[in-house]
Amino acid sequence: MSTFPLTRHRRLRTSPDLRDLVAETQLHRNDLVVPLFVTGEGPEQQPIDSMPGYFRYAPQALLRRMEDYMNKGLTRFILYAKISTAAKDNTGLGALDPSGLFPAAIAQIKSVFPECTLFTDIALDPYSSYGHDGLVKDGEIVNDPTVEVLAQMAVLHAASGADFVAPSDMMDGRVLALRRALDKAGYLQTGILAYSAKYASAFYGPFRDALDSAPGFGDKSTYQMDYRNAREAIKETLADIEEGADLVMVKPALAYLDIITRIRAVSPVPIAAYQVSGEYSMIKAAAEKGWLQEERAIQETLIAIKRAGADVIITYFAEQTLPWLS
Ligand code: PBG
Repeated sequence: MSTFPLTRHRRLRTSPDLRDLVAETQLHRNDLVVPLFVTGEGPEQQPIDSMPGYFRYAPQALLRRMEDYMNKGLTRFILYAKISTAAKDNTGLGALDPSGLFPAAIAQIKSVFPECTLFTDIALDPYSSYGHDGLVKDGEIVNDPTVEVLAQMAVLHAASGADFVAPSDMMDGRVLALRRALDKAGYLQTGILAYSAKYASAFYGPFRDALDSAPGFGDKSTYQMDYRNAREAIKETLADIEEGADLVMVKPALAYLDIITRIRAVSPVPIAAYQVSGEYSMIKAAAEKGWLQEERAIQETLIAIKRAGADVIITYFAEQTLPWLS
């Protein structure tokens, strides 16, 4: 390529209009999924201390909040439930109660907004007295018995109306078990969004406040991935695709852009990235202190995630980005 003075890179940057024309990456509202927190106790709308501007809602209030989102063209959601401490144990049975908070909320949402796309969280941590994603036996998070419960949980969510179940637990073999159980129960069209490359991360802290689900002992490193590993993410992702995942996910997002790019190169299915709670709170906190400009930081991080290769972005900033989306 010929160089200066024949080539002047700045020519393509001279005006906002021209920069928009040649921009390689666009963010669209169709890329975005909104996380929702439902709770069965307390006030209608509950602030989450470590996530300023984000709330848990009682079921009716959640429906009203969703109406705002729907009216603004945000029609994809991922639902999490905050379970009361009294209802938590180490059996997983709470997750299988057909009249529980989570299935009831799914059914209500899909009856009021049948046209929305609803992803639901499959994992035991909200129901676990230990705050772990699986059943605990002798201090260990046991894989196969957990997978059996998760498969039943997925069938219950599908029966309640979930469009996609999203296993966030990182047990081995759970995607295959979910696919088999869903098919056997007749839910052939219920999809699976697999948290395939989910790392053991410091950035989940605020989410655990939101659900009161922090692990009571140890951490999650025996099931979530070690952030020193990248090739392992490809192994996990290809396994999930073989097991029947319709969509795969990298989580968190910003510290894992290389993982998104690497998976993009090998994955035949669309890739989601989760801009997690800590990524949200970090920007909010710095902006509150006046240390960076909030809107600019949000745009820059979301564009980076898209540029890295994500097709779908789960983000607590979805609504805040709307004014600058085309
Ligand atoms: C747990 C789960 C977590 C998140 C989604 N599902 C936390 C964890 O693994 O401890 C984190 C999401 C976020 O931080 O925004 N199954």
